[in-house]
Amino acid sequence: MIKNISRKSSSWQLPEHQVTDEGVYLKRRSFLKQLGFVGTSALLSSSAQADWFSKNELTPFVTKPLSFKNSFKSEDVLTPEAKVISHNNFYEFGTSKNDPIENAQQFNVNPWQLNVSGEVGKELTLDYDDLYKLFPLEERIYRMRCVEAWSMVIPWIGFPLAQLIKKAQPNSKAKYVAFETLYDPKQMPGQSSRRIGGGVKYPYVEGLRLDEAMNPLTLMSVGLYGKSLPPQNGAPIRLVVPWKYGFKSIKSIVSIKLVEKMPPTTWNILAPREYGFYANVNPQVDHPRWSQASERRITSGGLFARNRIETMPFNGYEEQVAHLYKNMDLRKNY
Ligand code: MTE
Repeated sequence: MIKNISRKSSSWQLPEHQVTDEGVYLKRRSFLKQLGFVGTSALLSSSAQADWFSKNELTPFVTKPLSFKNSFKSEDVLTPEAKVISHNNFYEFGTSKNDPIENAQQFNVNPWQLNVSGEVGKELTLDYDDLYKLFPLEERIYRMRCVEAWSMVIPWIGFPLAQLIKKAQPNSKAKYVAFETLYDPKQMPGQSSRRIGGGVKYPYVEGLRLDEAMNPLTLMSVGLYGKSLPPQNGAPIRLVVPWKYGFKSIKSIVSIKLVEKMPPTTWNILAPREYGFYANVNPQVDHPRWSQASERRITSGGLFARNRIETMPFNGYEEQVAHLYKNMDLRKNY
């Protein structure tokens, strides 16, 4: 996203070929060509992508099929899987949209530990298998609106965050929920290099008010398109908050802490005037540097067939969530 936050030019504002070592850059160009980002060829499906990886001696991350019930449908046309898994923001693996798919295939998610702690009656530690077994999995088709004014429609698989929080028995001091991504610079090159990681302070952290976290729409996702999450989308477990800008939906979570005070959040730390704690999708409140009135919906068309549509308040989930903010000035609480 979201580069150019400081007015001074930093390394992460340079065109990619100026900051990337040339060998890597050329390899990347050939990789991207296979994916259809360079030139006009169509995007590959994920199985075709796996073929490409095997031919090129790069092992793709292996996802597994999941069982789930369908619980939340949508009239919107789905964004093709090949785009959902290749156009990503995951700065721990680089700041270009195609960096995560290229750099995250070796990401090791098993074993994994997710701790639920803080103002709770019962601390929880979930291991890799618990993520898929502890709660029944549901498929939910949600719109995802990035603060950069593009959007997708994604069939997520997961369980409501509310179920996990209830299991931990929050006490009366719990007012907010703080989330943290894995910190592992050996696996996540962006965490040890300002150039690769865009100057973000790691680990990536996010937060919700407790009532937002308990809203039935708020999902802990472990999969998409019928399979477990690929690493570039936040394997093995991530948050999905469909009425907020995508940066709230923190990936590869290792800690969920119930807390008394509003927790710090990554983009707010980096640029407080541009990214607030609430970050509700709001076509009436522009980003200081661009309009939020419309968005580019990423669909099945080629690069030039992307659709511009009007952005909806709360990303179209007003009925389900507007009551959470009824006495709040959403211009101040952006
Ligand atoms: N989580 C972590 N840990 N690191 C990130 O860089 N990027 C955020 C969010 N979660 C990000 C993250 C942003 S800006 C967006 S738009 C969404 O992830 C993108 O999710 P996607 O790549 O699955 O589409």
